[in-house]
Amino acid sequence: MSPELLPGIDRVLFTEEQIESRIRELAAEISRDYQGKALKLVGVLKGSIFFMTALARHIEVPLTIDFLGISSFSNKSGAPGVVRIAKDLDESIEGENVLLVEDIVDTGFTLRYLLQTLAGRAPNSLSVCTFLDRNSRRIVQVPVHYRGFEIPDRFVVGFGLDYNQLYRNLGFVATMKK
Ligand code: IMP
Ligand code: MG
Repeated sequence: MSPELLPGIDRVLFTEEQIESRIRELAAEISRDYQGKALKLVGVLKGSIFFMTALARHIEVPLTIDFLGISSFSNKSGAPGVVRIAKDLDESIEGENVLLVEDIVDTGFTLRYLLQTLAGRAPNSLSVCTFLDRNSRRIVQVPVHYRGFEIPDRFVVGFGLDYNQLYRNLGFVATMKK
């Protein structure tokens, strides 16, 4: 889909080629770090699916995949940060080397909740790989071990990221018009 034909799309931040090339670099780094270990990729539905499948195809250590789904709410004062698991993992992660795969880390509330929850299940190791990182909006500090791209303080769509559930299937990442 060409960005010019899409209402609401402002400009392309990362092209399909740039994304593919960055994913190959991340996959090479992950393959080195997990050499000789079994890896489990845990994807957060739905945003991380596109990134996770692309990443997984370039990782060269044996791996398994699992998914969890979350809902986030604002509290009464309108502040973000209330997260719960809406669809849990299918399998136990006890003793496993878990790499949590996110689409974007923004305030950090989602990731903090997920890390606390997963850490309580006794994995052998627990690390984070996010496609996009908007560090300028971070409210709670969370560890990010692998990141695809740092992005400016603009709402973005594409490659898994949505606006009202649309645009996830774009091969590129673009900012939305204000
Ligand atoms: P956090 O808890 O504020 O870090 O929220 C992260 C979640 O908010 C992500 O997993 C996305 O689902 C959503 N999100 C944050 N920024 C964007 C964006 O620019 N486009 C689409 N979704 C976003
Ligand atoms: Mg998400």
